[in-house]
Amino acid sequence: MDYAFQAEGLVKRFGSTTALDGVDLAARPGSVLGVLGPNGAGKTTSVRILATLLRPDAGRAVVGGFDAVHKPHEVRRRIGLTGQYASVDEDLTGTQNLVLIGQLLDLPKREARHRAHELLHQFDLAEAAGRPVRTYSGGMRRRLDLAASLVGRPNVIFLDEPTTGLDPVKRDDVWHMIRGLTAEGVTVLLTTQYLEEADALADEISVIDHGRVIAHGTSSDLKRVVGGQTVVVRPTDAGRMDEVRAILSAVAGRAAERPGPGVLSVPVDGDAAFTAVVRRLDDAGIGVTELALRLPSLDEVFFALTHPSSQAAKAAEKVLA
Ligand SMILES: Nc1ncnc2c1ncn2[C@@H]1O[C@H](COP(=O)(O)OP(=O)(O)OP(=O)(O)O)[C@@H](O)[C@H]1O
Ligand SMILES: [Mg+2]
Repeated sequence: MDYAFQAEGLVKRFGSTTALDGVDLAARPGSVLGVLGPNGAGKTTSVRILATLLRPDAGRAVVGGFDAVHKPHEVRRRIGLTGQYASVDEDLTGTQNLVLIGQLLDLPKREARHRAHELLHQFDLAEAAGRPVRTYSGGMRRRLDLAASLVGRPNVIFLDEPTTGLDPVKRDDVWHMIRGLTAEGVTVLLTTQYLEEADALADEISVIDHGRVIAHGTSSDLKRVVGGQTVVVRPTDAGRMDEVRAILSAVAGRAAERPGPGVLSVPVDGDAAFTAVVRRLDDAGIGVTELALRLPSLDEVFFALTHPSSQAAKAAEKVLA
């Protein structure tokens, strides 16, 4: 299969620290690869190698068919990069920053100005376009940084924690923009600490820990690997919690938990248990305002995978072996 970008067996050491210990990453054209991992896992290091900013000690990174070490110029012409830390110039205005980047990318001045104008509108920065960046809020800087990565209309874009520090509305705008890019065939590598973001955007997810990929798949693959569905019930009448608790415990064969006020939940082995719960609640005449059979959240999956002693991590290892 042809990948838009691919990293194979990346190894990178910084002194005695092994940042990457054989990382493989790949994404099909027009897809979003989510890269998740705890702090220090090696996400930024992987992105920097793919973006030609760092040479691997072993392994190779290929973008658009070009090797990042041997053909860095070819790679750079095809990518956009938004770093974890803002890379725009504080003393220049929003417009000046984007025009400068356009010119560095060999766009004629007119076109660079046009592109800057277009992007500043798209990212809701038109009003601030003439102000120096040092007067921007954190969210405005992030957006300018994202706009900067799109000046050259890249085929592949590396977004390293692009929504950190954005409010929910602006985060939503960025998600919308990312979906728009992939609809045009752009391939995205997205690192994020917000797992709901990976859940919402990523076609596939690679989980990195200690410089290694410890799990890979779609969000639902990962949830299945970690396993376990949960029945969640919120009775209309809070006075009947004890009855609900008794029903859940009887059906599941283990004690129900109270994840929040007025709600009970219990892990179950399959959907037959869910049907049984529904039947028993109905027989007892207990009304509900919430009733669900759900997969674990990606947060729960992440926790299980990156906590090696947990049951789930052992189950995942078996499946991946
Ligand atoms: N230039 C460097 N010099 C020395 N050590 C480094 C350097 N860059 C990264 N490291 C180390 O390599 C490891 C991986 O770092 P990296 O920045 O890739 O992690 P990350 O997954 O992006 O973490 P975060 O979620 O905190 O951004 C860490 O132990 C880090 O301290
Ligand atoms: Mg990082």
